[in-house]
Amino acid sequence: MTAPLIDPFQRAISYLRVSVTDRCDFRCVYCMSENMTFLPKKELLTLEELDRMCSTFIRLGVEKLRITGGEPLVRKGIMTFFQSMTRHLESGALSELTLTTNGSQLERFADDLFAAGVRRVNISLDTLDEQKFAEITRWGRLPQVIRGIDAAQRAGLRVKINTVALKGFNEDELFTLVEWCKSRDMDLTFIEVMPMGDIGNEDRLGQYWKLNDLRAELARHYTLTELSERSGGPARYVRLEETGQKIGFITPLTHNFCESCNRVRLTCTGELYMCLGQEDMADLRAPLRNNPASDAPLEDSIRAAISRKPKGHDFDYSRQTVDGRVTRHMSHTGG
Ligand code: GTP
Ligand code: 5AD
Ligand code: SF4
Repeated sequence: MTAPLIDPFQRAISYLRVSVTDRCDFRCVYCMSENMTFLPKKELLTLEELDRMCSTFIRLGVEKLRITGGEPLVRKGIMTFFQSMTRHLESGALSELTLTTNGSQLERFADDLFAAGVRRVNISLDTLDEQKFAEITRWGRLPQVIRGIDAAQRAGLRVKINTVALKGFNEDELFTLVEWCKSRDMDLTFIEVMPMGDIGNEDRLGQYWKLNDLRAELARHYTLTELSERSGGPARYVRLEETGQKIGFITPLTHNFCESCNRVRLTCTGELYMCLGQEDMADLRAPLRNNPASDAPLEDSIRAAISRKPKGHDFDYSRQTVDGRVTRHMSHTGG
């Protein structure tokens, strides 16, 4: 039996987030600049390499796989990859195969995802106003995403909506979003905007909406009960007693989650980031490509990388200069 991945702080690594492309059909202002240069195709792990990479992590004890991007569903042939992961669900090695998506391609892929064994999807949606949606995504179309959400629910996928909280942008939609999610039986999580990527959007701090304030606003209309349960992820939850809804809050700038962190992130070029908020990474593509006949060097590289996983991140709004922020884009590591 292969020894599981344990980091220097005795945290078992059981969750891998995999970004399968840096591309996206949207350009959310907090995520990308308008004119992005994307990676040449040869830099990307092929679908076969992605399979080999993920299968190796699964052999080393990863039980949960979350596919991200960019927008994962714009990667050509991606459904083949999902289908190739089904065998790990069937063998019981993998307990969950899931994805985070902007929803734009779900109308086309929801049924195939369900057939491949996906049961939950996280869909990013910051506003229910068509005009504002086009503004925040730069050119996305809201009806297309709503049709995607419809298709996901019809296919039997459980949906969680992720909303980035932005002052002066979706403040006025707080209750609309909560009620809309309730009416569709979807979970809702608010995310504090994170200082990532040098995307020339200097207003981001002006848009910073503290989730504590958002929560206080919610508390003016609902009775909130703090839930002690943690999903094994970064969110904290409250229940709205009047509706029974569970609302999540992700405040990446607080260290509340690091101590129980079970995750690492693989980029579409095969770099392994041990922490969302740190620049240290390990190149796994070389040991993979250079050793087509053996996974042993790849396994060694993974173990060596995990032995460097830091205790936590050091995002810091008080050092908010280009130097102080993590300069890679969120789409590079997949959130
Ligand atoms: P689960 O896999 O169910 O825990 O979902 P998730 O909420 O982690 O996944 P999702 O892709 O929906 O991520 C939502 C947001 O959570 C991302 O945009 C990140 O901002 C944040 N997030 C994800 N992973 C981490 C992490 O390791 N640390 C912190 N602080 N935030 C994270
Ligand atoms: N800060 C916070 N959340 C972000 N996302 C993308 N960029 C940022 C950022 N700078 C969110 C997306 C999606 C999730 C994967 O990451 O909206 O919900
Ligand atoms: Fe695309 Fe998601 Fe980034 Fe928006 S946040 S540009 S949908 S990857």
